[in-house]
Amino acid sequence: MNLNFSGKTVAISGVSSGFGVAITKRFLSLGANVFGCDVSDTAFSDLERLGAVLARVDLTNSSSASAWIEDVENSSSGVVDVLINNAGGVAGQTKKPIEQLTDEEWRVVIDINLGSTFSLCRAVVPGMKRTRSGTIVNISSGAALQASMTGIQAYCAAKHAVLGLTRQLAHELGPFGIRANTVAPGFIVTNEATQKQWDAYGQEKQKVLLEQIALRRLGTADEIADAVLFFASNLSTFINGQVLSIDGGK
Ligand SMILES: NC(=O)c1ccc[n+]([C@@H]2O[C@H](COP(=O)([O-])OP(=O)(O)OC[C@H]3O[C@@H](n4cnc5c(N)ncnc54)[C@H](O)[C@@H]3O)[C@@H](O)[C@H]2O)c1
Repeated sequence: MNLNFSGKTVAISGVSSGFGVAITKRFLSLGANVFGCDVSDTAFSDLERLGAVLARVDLTNSSSASAWIEDVENSSSGVVDVLINNAGGVAGQTKKPIEQLTDEEWRVVIDINLGSTFSLCRAVVPGMKRTRSGTIVNISSGAALQASMTGIQAYCAAKHAVLGLTRQLAHELGPFGIRANTVAPGFIVTNEATQKQWDAYGQEKQKVLLEQIALRRLGTADEIADAVLFFASNLSTFINGQVLSIDGGK
């Protein structure tokens, strides 16, 4: 068993909020060289104080995504050992009937969740192939396995696609010693938007939702970081192409 990441280069997307902050802190505490990116720099100073190297990158731009990985490789051992595709979300959108969706609303959610994952995977793979090792952990969602609580069509479609991409990459990259797995979190309050979503349910719906969770509570960002760590570490060396639901049991 080896949970020591010293000397390992870990690249994490979406580090300015929620799971990204928890995942970054977890890898820093285990000695990793952590490189993070986000379109917003809100959490940067805290994480930089702890030793993370951070960059502002809009991952909906695939050239910026590739350029960030190139920078990470140039500033480290030359290869990303662990990639965590965490950036994502609903871009501030709320549920609306499909006939009212614009092309732009559809595109932006697909790009943030699926496009960013594709771009970063594509960028790290040549380095990982050279070392014949590497681990990719994609954050999908319960919405990768069933309809989304958000009701947002593009989000559900993108997260299902992240799961498909993970399975395909596991198959394609396995022969090179590279693993790809996905963590599918249930609903977790991580930021203002998810807090608002939870509050909007009201006490009665919140009670119903909690009763659908076997453990009768919502999870935490740290519990997502634990699952990510499992897939990234030597605790899962023969686990590839899998999805792990972290939802308290449904
Ligand atoms: N919180 C939940 O209930 C939940 C449940 C299932 C899955 N997820 C997924 O987990 C991941 C993290 O969720 P969270 O709740 O911590 O969300 P969050 O909104 O708190 O954090 C996501 C981060 O991604 C960044 N980001 C968004 N668009 C970006 C872009 N174009 N380029 C670079 N960075 C960008 C945001 O700025 C933010 O810091 C997301 O992929 C989300 O879809 C969350």
